[in-house]
Amino acid sequence: MTKLGGVKGFHDILPPGGAHFTELETRLCRVLAAYHYDEIRTPVAERTELFARTLGETTDIVEKEMYTFDDRDGSSLTLRPEGTAPVVRAAVDGDLAQREQVLKLFYLGPMFRRERPQRGRSRQFHQIGVELIGRDDPLADAEIVTLLADCLAAAGVTGTQLVLNSLGDATCRPSYRAALAAYGEAHVERLCANCRQRLARNPLRLLDCKEEGCRRIMADAPLVTDHLCAPCRTHFAEVERLLAAAEVPFTVNPRLVRGLDYYVRTAFEVLAPNLGAQNAVAGGGRYDGLVAVLGGPPLAGIGFAIGLERLLMAAGAPELDLRPEVDVIPLTDDAAAVALQLARRLRLAGTRCELEACGRSVRSAMRRADKLGAHFALLVGEDELRARRATLRDMRRQVDHRLAVALDAAGPELAGTIRELAEGAHEAFEAAPEGRLK
Ligand code: HAM
Repeated sequence: MTKLGGVKGFHDILPPGGAHFTELETRLCRVLAAYHYDEIRTPVAERTELFARTLGETTDIVEKEMYTFDDRDGSSLTLRPEGTAPVVRAAVDGDLAQREQVLKLFYLGPMFRRERPQRGRSRQFHQIGVELIGRDDPLADAEIVTLLADCLAAAGVTGTQLVLNSLGDATCRPSYRAALAAYGEAHVERLCANCRQRLARNPLRLLDCKEEGCRRIMADAPLVTDHLCAPCRTHFAEVERLLAAAEVPFTVNPRLVRGLDYYVRTAFEVLAPNLGAQNAVAGGGRYDGLVAVLGGPPLAGIGFAIGLERLLMAAGAPELDLRPEVDVIPLTDDAAAVALQLARRLRLAGTRCELEACGRSVRSAMRRADKLGAHFALLVGEDELRARRATLRDMRRQVDHRLAVALDAAGPELAGTIRELAEGAHEAFEAAPEGRLK
């Protein structure tokens, strides 16, 4: 039979990658708990209208990257391309805003975008994201950005660049949009085909074009920061002041735009220099108005999402000791039941244990324990069954112990003794029976 293979752009996370993801998530969740955020889980599929209504009809995501399909009852469903719209929908559906004035939610899980796969970009990827709903003050923006900086530090990533911009709001954005459209019209001959379309539908996206010719033209385009209304300008200045006071390094790039249309005022991205073309590790911003668009009260909101695959690439694999502490080895079939119990008791006491199949020779069992990198091999053979005491070999120090606890000893006692031995605190153990482990 030929191999079946997976789906293009959908990747397996093979060992030890799974442990690396878990470690990263654990570190980030610790920071989120310290900031007093609650976890929310939403389904991977939503009604298509959710994203069409919130992300923007003319965004790349809605126009060409969503996994959309008809359910058997004819309704259109979409695999979530991002987490903000689903979280806001769930908060509105669950009437969460009636329980709490301010919602502090985080989520973790796979997102789906049908982009062209390349290094750092896949069609299924994972985000950890946060949404702070019900706050419109600059301190909320500063705290969110600080949280992002602390998450990145906890992940062990260094050398990243935090880029900030203000995109204005419903008052000042229209005049900026018009200025940008007028600039684009004046240079339409030299714009790429894509940008000509963008010009008519969503001129802000002109700033996002990767074509060299367009980038050169847009370098002289009007800047959003020159078009902000007074309240937006004051808000942004206060965010900058608070971040400087918190000693969170950032730069302002007035050409930063985001790939989603729900943003107003503060928007930001974190770039990692070692990632190549797909160098955004995280992105976010303010989305006042989104809650109301989804039928909820007129609440403000701000959040961000970190791409976990990119974060792992930027930070490098965390150093983890995944070796078992104990390799439990039943030398004969008769030892199977006792070995199973020993391993289980040790495991329940928190000791990482491997349990081998019966019937290995002592020599091959030692080779295997060595290959696993186990600190100890715990042997149960005929002698041990007779004496009701197991033989423990310290694989790292090459010392044999006859474990001075009964085979039916309680797990914590067993685990405690093994831990003491590992720490070298136990010298007074009997030697193993002659010749056993030679
Ligand atoms: P986003 O910038 O579209 O924002 O995505 C956030 C992060 O997800 C990116 O910076 C990147 O690390 C990762 N990412 C996006 N697409 C891919 C891909 N195809 N492959 C690998 N990683 C990817 C949002 O999704 C917003 N919902 C963030 C937000 C939350 N804004 C407010 N609240």
